[in-house]
Amino acid sequence: MTTPHRFSRQNPLTGRIRVPGDKSISHRSLMLGALAVGETTVTGLLEGEDVLATAAAMRAMGAGVERDEGGTWRIHGVGVGGLLQPERALDMGNSGTSTRLLMGLLASHPVTAAFTGDASLSGRPMGRVIEPLSRMGASFEPSPGGTLPLMMRGAHPAVPISYRLPVASAQVKSAVLLAGLNTAGITTVIEPVPTRDHSERMLAGFGAKLEIGEDDGANGKERVIRLHGEAELKPQTIEVPGDPSSAAFFIVAALVTEGSDLVIENVGLNPTRAGLVEVLRQMGGSIEEMDPREVGGEPVADLRVRHSALSGIEVDPAIAPSMIDEFPVFFVAAALANGRTTTSGLDELRVKESDRLSAMATALTAIGARVEERGDGLVIDGTGGEPLAGGGPVTTHLDHRIAMSMAIAGLASRNGVEVDDTAPIATSFPNFMALLEGAMR
Ligand code: S3P
Repeated sequence: MTTPHRFSRQNPLTGRIRVPGDKSISHRSLMLGALAVGETTVTGLLEGEDVLATAAAMRAMGAGVERDEGGTWRIHGVGVGGLLQPERALDMGNSGTSTRLLMGLLASHPVTAAFTGDASLSGRPMGRVIEPLSRMGASFEPSPGGTLPLMMRGAHPAVPISYRLPVASAQVKSAVLLAGLNTAGITTVIEPVPTRDHSERMLAGFGAKLEIGEDDGANGKERVIRLHGEAELKPQTIEVPGDPSSAAFFIVAALVTEGSDLVIENVGLNPTRAGLVEVLRQMGGSIEEMDPREVGGEPVADLRVRHSALSGIEVDPAIAPSMIDEFPVFFVAAALANGRTTTSGLDELRVKESDRLSAMATALTAIGARVEERGDGLVIDGTGGEPLAGGGPVTTHLDHRIAMSMAIAGLASRNGVEVDDTAPIATSFPNFMALLEGAMR
């Protein structure tokens, strides 16, 4: 069922809000909790559809995963190597992270599993994890083109490998490391370009033996992660910080809406995730970090964001991995900035929940923005703060971040923006609409 909605200019965004827990950390809390021996408790878990798909999968493989009335999640782990064969296909919904990380986890377990997903997920490439996991001994029968639905057979004993990531992907890195947990010996991942490091931080927190170093690669320094298997994980008490990728929509909304002065509390600012804040500041955005602290082993702060005149910028492709999920809403900021914004090196955006370069170029053009789509990025000539014309319906393509980005564009338009389907927002940010309305009251 599709749920269209029209987003239009309203009041400035003011007051204080709190966005839901980090999606990446939430998935990993459930997976690692399910592999520890004993009870892991998690507060602030993101209760979006993607994370709930991971919870259901861990239950289907024998872990106890329950939410108590106070909202704390309790996970009774089965121990590394203890996952059971699931009786039915694992339905991953829209979630690439659930799929790729669980393929890794299961690759070193002696089980057979089928993975299915929605139309968006069924178009996304799985070859990037199939390749290294096959080298470790697992076998796969994907659909033509290396996609879901697929069947996999885990290997036990699996073989440790040393793997240099051919694409900058935290999901591929994590899949190999998770497979390494139940593999005797040292599994090594080499990262020419650093990606989000939640897996490394959390594996170390759960007591896995992990060494992180740096080597000289052909194109400069490379991160080298060595995981010692077979690992024993100890249960943890985890507080999940707010998701910077969800905060991103409110950061941009406050920057582009006249009169806004908004505090977003408890935002995760891990350096491997904080690229958007840095780039928006370079464009003249007023984003102040208040009360910097640590939550769940991650740097966190409250962000005060005020309406600002933004200037176009050439975004350094080296910063892309640290804001990879924020480009759709960043393009909205660029469409309202003064002058030209150029982005490049963003080929990976074509294989997210949708082809985000094409989806955002089409949607922004439809509402009056000046956008040129190139092979690996967009070039956007901004309005200099004037509202966009608006219009639509714009097409979401089963992609939560396209829906939320175009919602924010609607706030900065003369005639509003009709988004064809807001239902996908529930995958990562179930209370997005309520928080947005609350902030504009
Ligand atoms: C994620 C990694 C990124 C990101 C995704 C979450 C993760 O994907 O886009 O939303 O939790 O590891 P890639 O590994 O494909 O870059």
